[in-house]
This record gives sequence, structure tokens and C-alpha cells, in this order.
Amino acid sequence: MLFTQETYVQRRRALRELVGTGVILLLGNNDSPMNYPANAYKFRQDSSFLYFTGQHRDGLALVIDCETGKETFVGDEIDIDDIVWYGSVTSVGEMAAETGVAEVKPMAWLAEKCGEARAKGREVHFLPPYRADHKIQLMDLLGIHPSKQKEAASLKLIQAVVKLRSIKSAEEIAELERASHIGYLMHTAAMKLAVQPGMTEAFIGGQLDGIAASHGSICSFQSIVSMHGEILHGYPSQRVLEPGRLLLCDAGAETVEHYCSDHTRTTPVSGKFSTKQREIYDIVVDCHDLALTHAKPGVKYFDVHLDVCRLMTERLKELGLMKGDTEEAVQNGAHALFLPHGLGHMMGMDVHDMEGLGQTYVGFDEETRPRLDQFGTNALRFGRRLEVGHVVTDEPGIYFIPDLIDLWHREGINARFLNFDRIDEYRDFGGVRIEDDVLITPDGCRFLGDERIPYHADEVEAYVQG
Ligand code: GLY
Repeated sequence: MLFTQETYVQRRRALRELVGTGVILLLGNNDSPMNYPANAYKFRQDSSFLYFTGQHRDGLALVIDCETGKETFVGDEIDIDDIVWYGSVTSVGEMAAETGVAEVKPMAWLAEKCGEARAKGREVHFLPPYRADHKIQLMDLLGIHPSKQKEAASLKLIQAVVKLRSIKSAEEIAELERASHIGYLMHTAAMKLAVQPGMTEAFIGGQLDGIAASHGSICSFQSIVSMHGEILHGYPSQRVLEPGRLLLCDAGAETVEHYCSDHTRTTPVSGKFSTKQREIYDIVVDCHDLALTHAKPGVKYFDVHLDVCRLMTERLKELGLMKGDTEEAVQNGAHALFLPHGLGHMMGMDVHDMEGLGQTYVGFDEETRPRLDQFGTNALRFGRRLEVGHVVTDEPGIYFIPDLIDLWHREGINARFLNFDRIDEYRDFGGVRIEDDVLITPDGCRFLGDERIPYHADEVEAYVQG
């Protein structure tokens, strides 16, 4: 368990008070088979279960009765087979005691508890399930078909969990700093490798996995390593890196205790940016830095995103790629041809923190609903007013996506603001993204991590050539 028992006891008390009535059911994750039952993916606990219990084992659940305040830790005890194959592990009773829950019940008890609650007309609060086994379990326990579970999930519970998990405590920030440190080691290694002759994307991807694993952790998501940076999630291929191209590497670490980092760097394979690359790269750097000066408590992250879009549009106008009134161009979403995603997302125990609970509840509220009808804006993940203790990514990018350029050109989308002939000269450019993890502080914000991964163009060139 990462934190003290008191931390978990307090979190559960706060959760119970926020939800108020009914029965809270939190399901921990089960092992997930890869190609046959005994050959499973590396186990990953559900982040909310982890947040409220600190326990990493598969096959557990937690029940909190809001009215009586009674908490029950649920799981089937280990048997001799478990001990023979996996060694002597902590018992369910020991885990419950460690996290401060007095009552322990086997899994079969869940049916009894849920049946009793339903018979009395009490609400059983559950979070939106994202794994098939949980969907089946919830159907058995609550009689709700998997196709209806997303809408039947408890809004009260979702909102309570989002409220608690959104603000990172000092001890969580220390863990996020550790993740960022591993991220630093991963990215600086990748940048050095990117300029080695004969290097492949896949080799660099493998090195990233290895660095994360050698720190007892894993990558916080499947690493993106591609000379086609315009493919937002371009996974590594066996292609040999070509001098003259840019390599986009977007990767993060997850600590043993499941706190994440998420960084992106774009490195010139030749060790030096061409003039054309540097012009685009410097715009992204300035957008990245602008976000840092604007992000502070009370400011809507959606407004920071728009400030970045305005700056990007101004600078792309100077290069002759965009034209017209900047404000009008941004309002019409013309910049989204180059930046089809939002400035960032929340980060914590999930790299897209709590995304499974529903992006609308995590990233937005009444005053910051994204425009779902506008390309680019509809992909925003976080727009809420920033608060001290929020951790968000700052990840502007400029991409030249040939199919998107052709589509917009053909259909005349935002043609008033775009110089398609000039844009065509960048068809094989690829993409640039720069990303860091940012903690909102009382005075503004700061990067997470003890050392900065080089990102200003001169620093990048000096670093990879050094
Ligand atoms: N860093 C990958 C993503 O945010 O989707």
C-alpha cells in the first residue's frame, strides 16, 4: 500500500459523505487473459479501486453502505494452489486490515448484498464498467444489460470520485514526480537513439518499454514513436529512420504504484532541424510556453487552449499557411486542420485521468461544454477551470495530415482562412508535438519532474549532437 491507512480511510469517508445514500460498489480488476487463461496481460488494478483501497491484487471488490457507514472488503481467500504457483501472498483479510476495513466477505456475498439492497429499493452505485468481465458481473448482480450499464452508472458516484481524484495531494504529486523522472530517462534515451544511423522506430519503442520496466514500472500507454508524427497515435514500425525526417515520440511511465507521466518530444533524425522544420517547431515551442504563462487557478483550460490556437493561427499566417482574421479563424475551427486535438488532458493514476468515468464529467462542467459539432473542438479532453492540485498535460502540436488537407481542400472547408497551395508544400512534413505534465500551483503552474527533457530547438540539437 502506497500511502498510510489513514489516507485511505479518509478518502472512503469523503466518498461516503459525497454520495450520501445507498450502497457503493467498487469492483477491482480481474486478471485479463491474453491468449489462454493462464497467460494473462500484466495485471493492472482499476485506478478508482486503488485510490480508495491501495490494494493491487486481482479479484477484489469494496462495498460501502452509505447509511450505516459499514465497509466490506470482498475477495476469495488464496488457497494452496495459489501458494504453489505464486508463492505465499498477502491474504484478503490482511489486505482489508491494512487498508482499515474490518469486515471481509467472499465474492459470492456480493449477490446477497446487492439482492438485499435492490429488494429494499436502495440504489447500488457503480462506476461505468470498461471490461467485459465486469459487465457480466454487473448484469448478474444488478440485472442491468451491458448495453445499458453506461447510462445506469451512478452520476453521484462518478461526480464524487472525480471531485476527490481531481485534486492531487502532496504525496500523490511526489509519486507523479517519480513517474516524470522515469519519463525523462525514457525520452532523453529516445532522443539520443533517434540520431543513430540505422535505427528503427520499433527499436526505440522497445528501449522505452525496457527503461520503464527496469524501474519496476510499465509504460503508461502504448508508446507512439513515428516519423509520421501527423498520425496522432502512430505506433512504432520496423522502418529505419530517415535522415531529414522528424521523429515524434510520445511516451510515459507508470510507477509501480500506478502514477503516470506523459511527454512528447519531436527530434530531427539528422540531429539538426531544417529551416522549414524549425519554423514549425518554434511555433509549437511558443504555444507550449504560452500555455504555461496562462494556466493558473481560476482560468478555464478551454481558454488557454483558445489562446494557444490564436497564437498558432497568427504564426501560421506569418508563414503564409493561414490567412484572414485570427479570431474568426479560431472561432470557425480553421486551426484544427493543423491542431485537431485539445491542449491537454488530466493526468494521475490514469494517463487520461478518469477518462473511463466519462470525459464530460471529468473535463467539463456547465460553463465549459465543448462544441461537439466542430472538428477539433469536439476532441477536447479538458476545459474546466483550473484548481490548485490539478495535473494536466500541455501538448500543442502542428500536423500536416494529407488526407485531411485533401478533404478540406476538396470541400472548401474553412477555405477563407487557409492557403491550400502553400499548405500542399508541407504534405510530407509529418508532425510536431511537444508535451509536458503541469501541476497547477497557487501562483500559476509548473512542470512536473526534476529535470526538463530538452525541447527548445537549440537545446534539442545540442543535446542529440552532444
Ligand atoms: N499521450 C498520448 C495521448 O494523450 O493520447
